Amino acid sequence: MASETIGGEGARGGLGAAELRTLVDVEEGTMAARIYSDPQIYELEMERIFGRAWLFLAHESQIPNYGDFVVAYMGEDPVMVIRQRDGSVLALLNQCRHHGNLLCRADAGNARSFRCSYHGWCYDAAGRLVQVPHEKDGYLEELEKEKWGLVRVPRVERYKGLLFGSWDVNAPSLTDYLGDATYYLDAFFDRTEAGTEVVALQRWTVHANWKWQAEQHASDMYHASNSHVSAMMASFMPEDATTPPPYERFLDFAPDGYQYASPLGHGAGFFVGGGTPGGAGGGGGGMMQPEVTREYVQRTSPDKARTRLGEFRADQVGLMHMTVFPNLSFVRPVNYMRLWHPRGPNETEVWNFVVVDRDAPQDVKDGWVRGATRTFSSAGILEQDDVDNMAMCQRGVRGFMSRKTRLNVQMGRGHRKPHPELPGVVSNVFSEEAARRFYGRWQEMLLEGQA
Ligand code: FES
Ligand code: FE
Repeated sequence: MASETIGGEGARGGLGAAELRTLVDVEEGTMAARIYSDPQIYELEMERIFGRAWLFLAHESQIPNYGDFVVAYMGEDPVMVIRQRDGSVLALLNQCRHHGNLLCRADAGNARSFRCSYHGWCYDAAGRLVQVPHEKDGYLEELEKEKWGLVRVPRVERYKGLLFGSWDVNAPSLTDYLGDATYYLDAFFDRTEAGTEVVALQRWTVHANWKWQAEQHASDMYHASNSHVSAMMASFMPEDATTPPPYERFLDFAPDGYQYASPLGHGAGFFVGGGTPGGAGGGGGGMMQPEVTREYVQRTSPDKARTRLGEFRADQVGLMHMTVFPNLSFVRPVNYMRLWHPRGPNETEVWNFVVVDRDAPQDVKDGWVRGATRTFSSAGILEQDDVDNMAMCQRGVRGFMSRKTRLNVQMGRGHRKPHPELPGVVSNVFSEEAARRFYGRWQEMLLEGQA
């Protein structure tokens, strides 16, 4: 029987299901401002979303050999992702089972065992407790070591080099979870037979809720021509010019483009033609990359990708943003991949990977890192615009009155722009359809298992 109170073991303060239903109105295109700062809602997100969804853990290229490991997070839960002797991958809670100490302090490395810094309990690469100091004179050989191994993430699956984990033993398969988002993911991760690799990882903290940028990467091409206008003015300035083009020219910058939205919460948007020289998304084709990388992005990459992806995806899907629900995002051809790790309702730890075609020449890969660093690192000329918006959005919604308002995601409500090749709900690139679906799925997961 349906209960109107979020109760049971996982309850954090009794948010009612009826109240949860008011937080987002997908049809109307509105949501409550408090979803970004309410600690009770945040706790429910940890339990019902990050405790169940498929979450990105690592890229296969980060851990190619036996014993290679990286640390990761599933919500606020620290985990270790370790390549096993047989080539499989295990994800383990990064928590010593003695007194809970963070077991592995390194970001990445290669190890056959992990010794806790506190009392020295030692675990092997499969998470088994193999050695305990003072086992004879302290525990009198009564400790049942086989019962005190590290906690395993029960589900780990992969898609095109991306390793995901879920705490939910009953979760659908990863490919079912991704649904038709794979069409758009492949435009990034399946351009060549060799696949992709991670070549850089940068991290920083933003004083803002994790959902702002996850939603933005699902749905928001809209902000670019306003928020990033100074960078655009600089990047579109001809080399021999002494003054930048006028600001107004960019406000209605509107090349052809599409937005993809999924009821599963995923979303993407792209300009058509950004992969080709002089194409409509030409700024995206270059994205302030060094010449060698721009040449690769505009010519070599589409040539290589055509047989795998077809001409439209290889040539025409240009500057593209995307989010895989809940907290994994991409922008190509800058080729950054983001994780928005929640750190309380008012803070997000950003993990920014640079991902390149594995078979690209080294100077192209190096150029990709320089281009991504120049534009979308913590000091990148475009990233600073976004971070400022997010931090100020947070400041704008967390006050006593300001958290009681409703906010607007109504752009393009009820309007579609179908395309014969594009799966999912497809609308104009300037739309908030994907934002509505993102928050709709968010609400659905908070309610699941309750009503
Ligand atoms: Fe790890 Fe005691 S907390 S050995
Ligand atoms: Fe932006």
